[in-house]
Amino acid sequence: MNPYSLAGELCQLTPFAAADTERVFDYCQDAEIQRWVPVPVPYRMEDAAVFTTGAAQKGWETELTGADRNWAIRVPGPDGRPYLAGSVGLKPDPPGKSVEVGYLVAADCRGRGLATDAVNTVVAHALRDLGMRRVLWQAAVGNWPSRRLAVRCGFKVEGTLRSQLILRGQAVDGWVATILAEDLAQKDGYWTEDGRVRLWD
Ligand SMILES: CC(C)(COP(=O)(O)OP(=O)(O)OC[C@H]1O[C@@H](n2cnc3c(N)ncnc32)[C@H](O)[C@@H]1OP(=O)(O)O)[C@@H](O)C(=O)NCCC(=O)NCCS
Repeated sequence: MNPYSLAGELCQLTPFAAADTERVFDYCQDAEIQRWVPVPVPYRMEDAAVFTTGAAQKGWETELTGADRNWAIRVPGPDGRPYLAGSVGLKPDPPGKSVEVGYLVAADCRGRGLATDAVNTVVAHALRDLGMRRVLWQAAVGNWPSRRLAVRCGFKVEGTLRSQLILRGQAVDGWVATILAEDLAQKDGYWTEDGRVRLWD
C-alpha cells in the first residue's frame, strides 16, 4: 500500500517522516498525552524515532488488517510551511471490518477544532472509502476532552468496560463508543451527548 494523504477542512493528514522525530519528541513531553495515551514514560528521542520511522510506517506495508495506519495532522505554520500538530490513526479491531481510532494533538495546537476535523476525516475515510462497518473509540474513564470530541464526531457512547486499557503499566477502566456507516449518513452537524445536533457554523 502506497502511503496516501487525506484532506480535512482545517488540516492535512499526511504520512509521518523521519524529519518529524524532534517535534514528536517535544509534544509527547506533555502531561496530558502521557496521562491518557499509552506512550512510553519518560518519553525519549529514540521513542519518537521508533514511532516516526518504524511504527508509523508499518501500517502502510500491509492492508488495514495488519497494523495501525497513522497520519500526521499538519496545519500551515507561521512561516507558511506545514506544522505538525499531532497524529490520528486507525488500527484493526479484531471482529473484522472494524477499526479503532486514536489521536492526540500537541498542547500548542489544541482548542481550535483540529482533532475534531482529523477524526471526522479518518472516520469518513474508514466508513466510506475503506468499507469498514464500524469505527471504535476507547478512552480511559475521566478523559472528558476526548469523550466530548468523540460524541461531537457522531460516536455513540456504549458504556464502561472494567480493566479495559493499560496506561503506564496499569489496567484502567475504559469508556467505549462506536460509529457505524449508517450513523455517518445521518450526521449533519456536531452531536452532543443528549442527542442534540448543533449544525456546523
Ligand atoms: C483530546 C484532544 C485530542 C483534543 O484535541 P483538540 O485539537 O484540542 O480538539 P478540538 O480543538 O477539536 O476540540 C477541543 C475544544 O475546542 C473547541 N473548538 C474550538 N474551535 C473549534 C472548531 N473550529 N471546530 C470544532 N471544535 C472547536 C471544541 O468545541 C472543543 O471544546 P470542548 O473541550 O468543550 O469539547 C487533546 O486534548 C489531546 O491530545 N489530549 C491528550 C491526548 C488524548 O487524550 N488523546 C485521546 C486519547 S483517547
